[in-house]
Amino acid sequence: MDKFFINGGIPLRGEVEISGAKNAAVAIVTATILAEGPCILENVPEISDISICLRMLFDMGASIKPLKKNTIEIDTRGIKEPNVPYELARQMRASSYFLGTLLGKFNKANVPMPGGCDLGDRPIDQHLKAFRCLGASDEIDHGVVRLSADNLFGSQIYFDFITVGGTINAMFAAVKAQGLTIIENAAKEPHIVDLANFLNSMGADIMGAGTDVIKIRGVSSLKGATYTIIPDQIEAGTYMIAAAATKGDILVKNVIPKHLESITAKLRIIGATVVENDDSVRVFVENQLVKANLKTMPHPGFPTDMQPQMSTLLTLADGTSIVTDDIFDNRFRYVAELRRMGADISVDGKVAVIEGVGELTGAPVKATDLRAGAALVIAGLAANGVTEIDDIYHIERGYECIEEKLKQLGADIKRKSIPGTAVRQAL
Ligand code: EPZ
Repeated sequence: MDKFFINGGIPLRGEVEISGAKNAAVAIVTATILAEGPCILENVPEISDISICLRMLFDMGASIKPLKKNTIEIDTRGIKEPNVPYELARQMRASSYFLGTLLGKFNKANVPMPGGCDLGDRPIDQHLKAFRCLGASDEIDHGVVRLSADNLFGSQIYFDFITVGGTINAMFAAVKAQGLTIIENAAKEPHIVDLANFLNSMGADIMGAGTDVIKIRGVSSLKGATYTIIPDQIEAGTYMIAAAATKGDILVKNVIPKHLESITAKLRIIGATVVENDDSVRVFVENQLVKANLKTMPHPGFPTDMQPQMSTLLTLADGTSIVTDDIFDNRFRYVAELRRMGADISVDGKVAVIEGVGELTGAPVKATDLRAGAALVIAGLAANGVTEIDDIYHIERGYECIEEKLKQLGADIKRKSIPGTAVRQAL
């Protein structure tokens, strides 16, 4: 297993290019299952979650052709069976998208229960509710979710609470269902809109993505399309916070500022300066950071995927900050690692109380999930001394070339392979 060694205390300065959005890309790559022709996808991030998705499609019979960096051609006409390989599927949450796409293509799907970041219980009851509304039956058989339908018919789907994956899977199953589907209480994340735009470019008829009511008129077939994936709002936010935490000054390029509004607003309250341009944001700090309270919400609220990073920044802000994250059962597993670095945080259920400290100090820590790992990188960049981060495979699931991008910003970060430890192979 590889580790990062970060010698912190260096203000980040310079420019960083943001890659394609992981949570859009995993949905769009999987959506190619519905296409009756080849798709060309651009701005696809080279991260392990995408590698796993592509490997699953390849193992099922799809042809995958890298055309150039971050651009791939995917032709899924070679997929003849609605069955997903077990081992790869259990490595990530996005494998649940094979349920909706295979159901949409074959009226059948046999997909292992999904895996992904350990953030507590992550059921798929709302996904199954959506499929049932459209006419599918389901059973869980030896760890595999089996769906089947004679035909899929448009219907009204009302989610009990906002679910990104549930909304995406309902879209997948509805685009070829007979008649009109209305999805109420839908998720509104930028990647929902990006997916709808991709599906519409294939010939789907989706209206209202980005609002809480999405209307889909089923069509008989979807063709191949060429599509460019949006920039990653969470990767961008992570670098914005790294700039603030190191009292640096960086230009984050290739972003959509509107997608960053809640992050920008919170950074300004804490005392960072954020200058918004058409497709970039500049972040720098001139004063002492001050406390702020934070509650994560579905988009357009503050994203839960930015909570560990923002909480890390608040450990260095004057005063007491209260962070509430009730989107998942437990998104504070990184707190114990931050305490090793001198952070003063206490957690009670879904609420963290953070007392600002003057500085963090480098220590050996372990990434517990993707965004927790990103938070520990930020802590290491800000800390005095060397921070050693283990299990960095979590970080590589969602951050393309993170050490190269940080080195370009002046960070002292090195990757070391630890001999004799199992190497996690996505491909
Ligand atoms: C997606 O996860 C993202 N993953 C997550 O990003 C992100 O944190 C989350 O949306 C919220 O924005 C991908 O897009 C691959 P949900 P998802 O369905 O779809 C519960 C990252 O760091 N729930 O909106 O799983 C669920 O347990 C990852 O990039 C049910 O109870 O999120 C959670 O508590 C981490 N039943 C809450 O709802 C269901 O059927 C929100 O989950 C579905 C969800």
